[in-house]
Amino acid sequence: MSKTRILTGITTSGTPHLGNYVGAIRPAIAASRNADAESFYFLADYHALIKCDDPARIQRSTLEIAASWLACGLDPEKVYFYRQSDIPGIPELTWLLTCVTAKGLLNRAHAYKAANDANRAQGEDADAGVTAGLYMYPVLMAADILIFNANKVPVGRDQVQHIEMARDIGQRFNHLYGGEFFTLPEAAIEENVATLPGLDGRKMSKSYNNTIPLWLPAKELRKAILGIVTNSLAPGEVKNPDDSNIFSIYQAFANAEETATMRQAYADGIGWGDAKQKLFERIDAELAPMRERYDALIAKPAEIEDTLQAGAVRARALATPFLDALRFAVGLRSLGADNSQAKNESKAPKSRKATLPRFIGPYREELTYKFRFENHDRKVRFVSIGYPTYPESMSALNELKVMPAAALRLGSLSNIRGGLTELVNANTEAELGALVVDVGVDANEALDQFVSERDLANVVE
Ligand code: TRP
Repeated sequence: MSKTRILTGITTSGTPHLGNYVGAIRPAIAASRNADAESFYFLADYHALIKCDDPARIQRSTLEIAASWLACGLDPEKVYFYRQSDIPGIPELTWLLTCVTAKGLLNRAHAYKAANDANRAQGEDADAGVTAGLYMYPVLMAADILIFNANKVPVGRDQVQHIEMARDIGQRFNHLYGGEFFTLPEAAIEENVATLPGLDGRKMSKSYNNTIPLWLPAKELRKAILGIVTNSLAPGEVKNPDDSNIFSIYQAFANAEETATMRQAYADGIGWGDAKQKLFERIDAELAPMRERYDALIAKPAEIEDTLQAGAVRARALATPFLDALRFAVGLRSLGADNSQAKNESKAPKSRKATLPRFIGPYREELTYKFRFENHDRKVRFVSIGYPTYPESMSALNELKVMPAAALRLGSLSNIRGGLTELVNANTEAELGALVVDVGVDANEALDQFVSERDLANVVE
């Protein structure tokens, strides 16, 4: 039915390296080609500020990462491709989530604990040099994921805890505010790809300064690969592939057959120089065509910017109405708003409201979420279609409710078209659109006027 949403981000604080490619970009792009998937790729530049205070580097890194994803085959028309800081709903949601996140949960984050441990080892105060940004990292990441109701998040193993935290935080919000606002995400790890080792054998990571940049010219790529640490076994001596950085990296690029051949070569005592040459050739075969595209793209930053802006428009179209719904749910509401529709809330006095037409919902019906519209006399005028999740129902409702009259053209009604056509046909839907535009009334009044004119009350009950 509804597509699986896949979302992943890369922090824009460095130059893309082989580890980013193998661990995030490549599996995410492969997944995006699945017709059952809807993909979200973004440049996590707010996250970058946590560890980088060099503005030029942030900008350059954003360019390089955007160009990398495009070069690796991302189709920005088919996926959501955007920059985190172009979506104001993300920092807004971060605050809403911050207010439901246990401080103790954040105390247990690996990255924060590692910083504490390092400080203690130096005899420093545990929080020395730790910013509130680092501490809050998991909440910002939860907002990235939850705002688009992602189902699957392809990440490296080191990020799994963050996804679990996003689940915890989303669940807590759902529980506190009595609705299924957020889909709870799952980490997706490509099984046969362990964390890629870097030049020194530790995990390839910007923070260890042991990376192999993704877009080195072939010659330099070869040189970098020759610099990977190995043990001192000589050619002819049997080598253990399962204890070899060269082999781990090779495996991340090779198919099963190639991997088996390499395993055999280790048993046959392949020399490290030969193994590195084979590794270089295998990686270069995969990267060379993309490297050409990358070089062409990076020469035109303004075009990449346009692509990102177009992506942000599409992403905001999802995020903004959802944020409206969430703001409403927590009580950040217009003072004129009718509150009675929210769940688990004490009912306000009925006297005045009894005379106003109103939307009710979303409410659960069987396995879906619906909303309905009641006239001033409390007769049900229409019932929406069933939406698979609360947020989807809420955004359809919100879209209808808050839409300025002039914007409520037929096309804008597409989200709720099913809801209207359940009771009225396409013809009357068109009339509704025209009525709203012509008369300039708000959606509530328009619907009310529309249905009372037709006396559609009898249609439902
Ligand atoms: N923390 C991720 C990393 O360092 C980057 C990131 C930020 C991310 N927000 C995200 C990844 C949301 C997946 C989903 O790799």
